[in-house]
Amino acid sequence: MGFLSRKTKNRPVTVEEAHPIFEELERMEEAVPERPAASETPVEESEHPPAGPLAEGEGAQRAESSSPPRASAPAATETDGASAGVALEEEVADGPARFMPRDLIAPSRHEGAVEEPAAEAAVGHPDVIAFANQKGGVAKTTTTLNLAVAFAESGYRVLCIDLDPQGNLTMSQGIDPDKVEKSLYDVLVNDMPISEIIVRREIDIAVASIDLAGAEIAMSTKIGRERTLQKALKQVSADYDFVCIDTPPSLGLLTINALTAANKVIVPVQCEYLSMRGLVQLQNTLKMIQENLNPEVKIEGILPTMLDTRTVHAKEAVEILEENFGDLVFKSRIRKAIKFAEAPVKGSSVLKYDSGSSAANYYRELAKEVLANESS
Ligand SMILES: Nc1ncnc2c1ncn2[C@@H]1O[C@H](COP(=O)(O)OP(=O)(O)O)[C@@H](O)[C@H]1O
Ligand SMILES: [Mg+2]
Repeated sequence: MGFLSRKTKNRPVTVEEAHPIFEELERMEEAVPERPAASETPVEESEHPPAGPLAEGEGAQRAESSSPPRASAPAATETDGASAGVALEEEVADGPARFMPRDLIAPSRHEGAVEEPAAEAAVGHPDVIAFANQKGGVAKTTTTLNLAVAFAESGYRVLCIDLDPQGNLTMSQGIDPDKVEKSLYDVLVNDMPISEIIVRREIDIAVASIDLAGAEIAMSTKIGRERTLQKALKQVSADYDFVCIDTPPSLGLLTINALTAANKVIVPVQCEYLSMRGLVQLQNTLKMIQENLNPEVKIEGILPTMLDTRTVHAKEAVEILEENFGDLVFKSRIRKAIKFAEAPVKGSSVLKYDSGSSAANYYRELAKEVLANESS
């Protein structure tokens, strides 16, 4: 905790140490020569037409199942990614060894952001949000489920993906990962269509099973292993407005798959055990992914969770977070509440478990903030 100290306002966070993931990704680059270079990636991204994969394949069977389509899909702007790619290239050309947290922010959150005509680009492209933090116990799973259900309450079609071998998200919808026959393991390792492992609960959920723990090793020799989830999602991309991906507490291949498939990342941070060092490491990984695999992905926001507003320490922790990460910190706050521990035992979200509770409203507020960022 000594690392947590007040910093001068607007002082950038320095990238101090090499992350092992850099070496790992470099090795992946060498091992998979056909992967396009960073500058080519946007071309590949724009190649697939919005509803193409669904029309071709098994995705058609999903059409009968989902909730009714919304009149207007959320605006996932392809242009955002392109402009961010340019910004990063310029930075590399100038050669600074540091980057600012602001460089990773979704352009829609920048002050004075130019309004872009996003509606037509959004057709058939769900917003894919990865919930990531390599620390465990920071409310990744709780946030994935409850934000997803808050989107669903507002009429959006939502798919959750449980990419954590512990299967907590799967369990928190009342499904036993030990009894699951087909899971994300089959999708990632055996190329099973993702529609075959989706179970309908409060939201649709692509389930985890215990053998997902072996997926990283089983995928390690696979060509295009970092893009496996991204490819699997194309089959159902026209069926959903939001895809919310829960990730394990590590920055391994499963999390890399989530960040490669995503266009947004939400980083839950438990304010009592706040670690800036861990966040910088996550930013390094994300930057590597932006440069090598997915120029579109941006941090949508850092979310203070399990906040105990009665303590001075918690207030200070949030202030430090805001001083260091500015715009990146959500305005929404998720306060501590026992209901968050109780709801998963009943196999439900807090929004269903106690719909009128303030705990449920924390995530409704967060959903509003995400949706407002989207339309700005
Ligand atoms: N706002 C909160 N208040 C109290 N407990 C919480 C809150 N959010 C999450 N929890 C509890 O904290 C534990 C860890 O949360 P979880 O979402 O599983 O974290 P992670 O997925 O990051 O490991 C769980 O038991 C969960 O019920
Ligand atoms: Mg979890």
